[in-house]
Amino acid sequence: MYVRSLEFKNYRNLVDNKIEPGEKINVFYGNNAQGKTNVLEVLWLFCGGHSFKGAKENEFIKFGEKFAKIKATFFSQNREQEAEIIFNNNRKEVVINGVKKNSSASLIEKFNAVVFSPEDLTLVKRGPSARRRFIDSAICREKLRNAIVISKYNQTLNQRNALLKDIYRHPELRDTLDIWDDTLCSLGAKIIFQRLSYIDKLSSDAEKYHYGISDNTEKLQIVYSSNCSAKFGDSEQEIFEKFSEYLKKSKKDDIQSGLTNIGPHRDDFNIIINGRKAKVFASQGQQRSAVLSLKLAEANVLSELTGENPVILLDDVLSELDNKRRDFLLNKIKNYQVFITTCELSEEEGLKNGKKFLVKEGNIT
Ligand SMILES: Nc1ncnc2c1ncn2[C@@H]1O[C@H](COP(=O)(O)OP(=O)(O)OP(=O)(O)O)[C@@H](O)[C@H]1O
Ligand SMILES: [Mg+2]
Repeated sequence: MYVRSLEFKNYRNLVDNKIEPGEKINVFYGNNAQGKTNVLEVLWLFCGGHSFKGAKENEFIKFGEKFAKIKATFFSQNREQEAEIIFNNNRKEVVINGVKKNSSASLIEKFNAVVFSPEDLTLVKRGPSARRRFIDSAICREKLRNAIVISKYNQTLNQRNALLKDIYRHPELRDTLDIWDDTLCSLGAKIIFQRLSYIDKLSSDAEKYHYGISDNTEKLQIVYSSNCSAKFGDSEQEIFEKFSEYLKKSKKDDIQSGLTNIGPHRDDFNIIINGRKAKVFASQGQQRSAVLSLKLAEANVLSELTGENPVILLDDVLSELDNKRRDFLLNKIKNYQVFITTCELSEEEGLKNGKKFLVKEGNIT
């Protein structure tokens, strides 16, 4: 899919305007605080209505105004489509192809995008919870049912943990643990199975992109790390058995700590560059490149799933990257419409196939 036009009225600091992006790379450049990220935020809102900045809806409305309106025309599912979102009084009105919709969820089927924002660097830098969120939101996009499985797993986990704390004081309750364990392992095995298969799809594409970004000097590996030794190729039943076995072994520890120490809620995936953990050894530019490779790979997996190439939104990616890496992002990403924001774009950098937009005090020219 690609966006043909984008219109906004009373949107944050942006001056009312209609822009027509190109089908390949679009670069929004300008000084700090001019409105570049706001443009990407508008695009992302068409994916289902939430800001990647985590902002509340009333914050989109320009200071002193009563409503904000954004509109996009885009080519997707072999036809021209149109979506409009109006933010008014903490309410949101969504109109798709002239038809009013009750919820913005209906946008998800129409408009696909993948976003990189500087906060995504936590994927490499921080602890495992950001990585689990990334992978779980990906598997939920693949199958809506996975969201239900994850939520039931978390409920079961909470109940098991509550019981563990009770057992510490009332050891006679110990036998009741088995009731939860079976449910926990069966739901957990489903989650681990889906995650392993997603990582398998993601990792080969991420490796290719990373070779591209690093001019063939760095091998990127994404390796799922399961605390019950589950691995890609195991059936769901095999994972269930491994999980059950490890859970049994950790029963004593679990009772002592009052927590469940085994399960997908404690799993992680490792991001490895040239054989070493990126979190520990990678430079800033390498970390950024690895996250970008992950995001671009995410776009590939999504396009296989939906049959449409998502739009790629890259907020402030170019900083910390050397010329070769910048050149890859500006000129070598094929098959996708890309929107990039950056403070500086030198003339000699040469955007071969793209369109440039200067963003100044909310004006886009
Ligand atoms: N509701 C609003 N009404 C008016 N202005 C707003 C509103 N919300 C945010 N702004 C302003 O929009 C400006 C531009 O924000 P934006 O994040 O798009 O900047 P940017 O060009 O991406 O800058 P940087 O290069 O620093 O990332 C900010 O100065 C912010 O104060
Ligand atoms: Mg910005």
